[in-house]
Amino acid sequence: MQIAVIGTGYVGLVSGACFAEFGIHVTCVDVDSSKIDKLNNNIIPIYEPGLDQIVEKNVKAGRLEFTTDLRSAVEKSKVVFFAVGTPPKDDGTPDMSFYRQAAEDVAGAMNGYKVLVTKSTVPVGTGKWLRDFVTERIADGMSFGVASNPEFLREGAAIQDFMRPDRVVIGSNEPEAIEVMKELYRPLYLIETPIVITSLEAAELIKYAANAFLATKITFINEVANLCDAIGCDIHDVARGIGMDNRIGRKFLHPGPGYGGSCFPKDTRALTTVADQFGVETRIVDAVIEANEFQRQAMIPKIEKLVGDLNGKRIGMLGLSFKPETDDMRESPAIDIAHTLIERGATVKAYDPVAMEESKHYINGIEYAADEYDAIEGADALVIVTEWNQFRSLDLEKVKRLLKAPKIADLRNIYEPEDMRELGFEYVGVGR
Ligand code: UDX
Repeated sequence: MQIAVIGTGYVGLVSGACFAEFGIHVTCVDVDSSKIDKLNNNIIPIYEPGLDQIVEKNVKAGRLEFTTDLRSAVEKSKVVFFAVGTPPKDDGTPDMSFYRQAAEDVAGAMNGYKVLVTKSTVPVGTGKWLRDFVTERIADGMSFGVASNPEFLREGAAIQDFMRPDRVVIGSNEPEAIEVMKELYRPLYLIETPIVITSLEAAELIKYAANAFLATKITFINEVANLCDAIGCDIHDVARGIGMDNRIGRKFLHPGPGYGGSCFPKDTRALTTVADQFGVETRIVDAVIEANEFQRQAMIPKIEKLVGDLNGKRIGMLGLSFKPETDDMRESPAIDIAHTLIERGATVKAYDPVAMEESKHYINGIEYAADEYDAIEGADALVIVTEWNQFRSLDLEKVKRLLKAPKIADLRNIYEPEDMRELGFEYVGVGR
């Protein structure tokens, strides 16, 4: 089978490369010619473990190609994926201008039956809109299919999530389109991946509801962690105790400075907007959004507890990206935390293994360090914001020597409070 993937951002590139790995012929299309040039020279514009190898291998095998020529890519394809960005606008609704442009271009290139599949996260109702939009622009009698196939890829684990997903959701109101989609995912079917077939609208809503639920789960445990801080008990005990209930589940019960990234903040807001359009209130998700903002700011008193008044203090910050194994800085808690520290008169020197370049577009007024030890030398406290593996095994004696005073705010709970106190650190975590 031959498919086209429009948009070589995070989702499009991972999906295109992984479909090629399934043995399908994939043409990835983007309007950004510099990006396409890079990809054609085997330079991957994002940091995602394992992606470079898969791209290289499948390009060599002749199953994966990159182009700006949308027309020829669409003409030769049976399935066309929309994987363009739908970034949030100021009012929380997704900006659909790239999607609309892609729909216009695809409609202009239609030369026979194809299934048009949306992978981008889009408002409920977009599939129906696409059907009408394309129908108006093609020759009478030409038929096509419309489907929604939301992605559930975690950055940093995207390849594995694509190759071994918990489930694949295919939403369509047309049997023919569903058959084509099932064929496309046959390699996963063979490893017994559940394929969930739904209506178009349900698939569109599943994406928002899944992310809003996960954001709620994190926010819930953050709230209980704050309570643990006040009571003086350990959130990890509480999380274990509740997570073993199969109805609750152990995952996503890890407290921290609040969720970030490109999906949860955007999709929670988008869900409330969709609900608003349908005249329904979303009291839980509204509260989650508010509580997550609060959680970031709740990290500041923890640091103040260690160093007192922040004015004139020097903070060594480890980790900037919104989570490990990515350089993505979108809505990273590090942004708010660093800016608040600076506002209160502190200076911040930060180190992140991959996100420092990206960080320069998001955080103003911090210094960047050569490595973790350079970040903390002479600092009044060390603040861990992202749980990169390499921060889990710091030389703690060296850390103690380098810091002005041995003080650590571990906002990801990667160290054991007892051990740290024994080593002579003044230590604060989240809910411990
Ligand atoms: C998420 C969804 O998991 C994925 O299915 C969806 O398609 C896109 O959004 P991603 O944004 O890559 O993926 O990150 P994820 O690993 O899910 O983490 C999201 C945020 O929650 C991060 O900021 C992370 O630090 C935080 N988090 C996660 C917690 O604070 N506690 C947890 O227990 C889990």
